[in-house]
Amino acid sequence: MAATELNAFISEHNNLVEQALDRWLPAATQEPALIHQAMRYSLFAGGKRLRPILVLAAAQAVGGHREQVLPAACALEMIHTYSLIHDDLPAMDNDDLRRGMLTNHKVFGEATAILAGDALLTCAFELFAERALEVGVSAHTVVQVIKEIACASGTAGMIGGQVLDLAAEGKKVTPEQLAHIHNYKTGALLRASVRVGALISGASSVQLEFLTQYAECLGLAFQIKDDILDIEGDSVTLGKPAGSDLANQKSTYPALLGLAESKRLLAEQIDLALQALHHFGSQRSVLAELAVFVRDRES
Ligand code: IPE
Ligand code: IPE
Ligand code: MG
Ligand code: MG
Ligand code: MG
Repeated sequence: MAATELNAFISEHNNLVEQALDRWLPAATQEPALIHQAMRYSLFAGGKRLRPILVLAAAQAVGGHREQVLPAACALEMIHTYSLIHDDLPAMDNDDLRRGMLTNHKVFGEATAILAGDALLTCAFELFAERALEVGVSAHTVVQVIKEIACASGTAGMIGGQVLDLAAEGKKVTPEQLAHIHNYKTGALLRASVRVGALISGASSVQLEFLTQYAECLGLAFQIKDDILDIEGDSVTLGKPAGSDLANQKSTYPALLGLAESKRLLAEQIDLALQALHHFGSQRSVLAELAVFVRDRES
């Protein structure tokens, strides 16, 4: 598969996700309209949609159907968007720009931004439970996926990582501690995206194991690249403020190990992610191209 085919996969499936989110989210006019407007503001502000794309690509890798995984794909994007809204709050990273637009709290105020995040989180589970059953996912699998997503979002996942990220501001952590923070705050949701795409599609336990390995390497690589882009990127291309990590004295890969070593570790994780895909045959798959995309992305 060439990069152009990846672009085609991404744009076709992004459309699918955009339409499903629009269909399944409460309308902006539904009362209380303010909260639905705030939720939609951040959700439809753009964004790479990497998590839903990973759900769909993992499903494809094990012969699944995209209609069956679409509710999980949407739920994961909603939870990711909630994490961004809260991450940008003054109490956390205090950023004013996200997805090329003013951050949620800058437009709607802090209270509404907090509630919009909460609402995206709860609405994600509501949407998934309802729509997954509708498209024929078994009740057993629905429960399994809810547990997977809840764990990845909670204190053993994204929230746990965010807590450690804040606690590590201005401190010197070990490389092991930093990997732990990154695996939790960012890796967990990416791992869950790949796993639920595979789980819903009836992956074997061996397939699930290799896909999990792939996702764990991809997740760490993704946040290492995010740290690098905070230094090397510009705010317009990123759609969020470059230099935010430095301003917040964040513990990042470049801060701890330097840019060159961060890039070496990024490449190493991507190689490991690609190796984990060997089980699925020698052909370059969407998942493989996505790993290269994560390494080379500029936003
Ligand atoms: C940004 O995620 C937050 C991190 C976990 C590093 P993305 O880079 O996937 O953000 P969007 O969804 O494209 O806006
Ligand atoms: C955030 O990491 C991870 C989340 C769980 C949102 P960052 O704080 O580095 O994400 P950006 O750089 O603001 O997107
Ligand atoms: Mg942060
Ligand atoms: Mg941030
Ligand atoms: Mg960052």
